Amino acid sequence: MLNASLPKVDEVYVDAQRALESIADAYSVRRAEHRDILGVVRINRLCLPENYSAGFFEDLLNAYGKAFHVAIHREDGVVGYVMCRVEVKKGFFSEEKLKSLHIVSIAVMPRHRRRKLGYALMAYAMNSGRRDYDCRESYLEVRVSNEPAINLYKKLGYSIITVIPQYYLDGEDAYLMARPI
Ligand SMILES: CC(C)(COP(=O)(O)OP(=O)(O)OC[C@H]1O[C@@H](n2cnc3c(N)ncnc32)[C@H](O)[C@@H]1OP(=O)(O)O)[C@@H](O)C(=O)NCCC(=O)NCCS
Repeated sequence: MLNASLPKVDEVYVDAQRALESIADAYSVRRAEHRDILGVVRINRLCLPENYSAGFFEDLLNAYGKAFHVAIHREDGVVGYVMCRVEVKKGFFSEEKLKSLHIVSIAVMPRHRRRKLGYALMAYAMNSGRRDYDCRESYLEVRVSNEPAINLYKKLGYSIITVIPQYYLDGEDAYLMARPI
């Protein structure tokens, strides 16, 4: 079940920093702030069928803000985000109860994709899940048809744990993917 070539969180983070350096003239990634929320809500509505109220984003920013990151473009402003929740649950890779970083939502605006921003957002979230919240695992749900996202998560060392039948409102199944961090 465990991804055979599991990259260390530190390695992924350094890799992401290097990728961001190469596009630093136009892009940066930083922790989200309250002034970013309207932009984040807009990206969420444009990019995903799973939408949340601004209040939900605010709540997760207040509760787990160190793991909530945004990608900023020099001219377009906020063009991507990753939002997380820290949960205490039985591990996927151990029998013990542990803190797990749940990736609740991630998206990058279409015209800013394939520049490693999704990778960097995930790397920053995983790094702060481990360092700031003492999480030992991270998990997420993804539509079984969402090839770009599944590829991204595999690249980051996530494995498919199980299929959750009809997880989404339109009846599509989800993969539950996870990795130790
Ligand atoms: C998934 C998403 C966040 C990826 O963002 P991104 O910034 O384009 O991703 P990156 O440039 O960091 O890509 C990193 C890796 O992911 C994979 N990947 C990303 N987009 C891909 C695509 N269209 N097709 C295949 N693989 C893809 C590749 O392995 C890529 O590495 P590579 O560029 O070296 O080949 C973006 O496509 C998106 O916002 N999609 C809509 C929202 C969504 O589906 N969110 C996830 C819900 S679970």
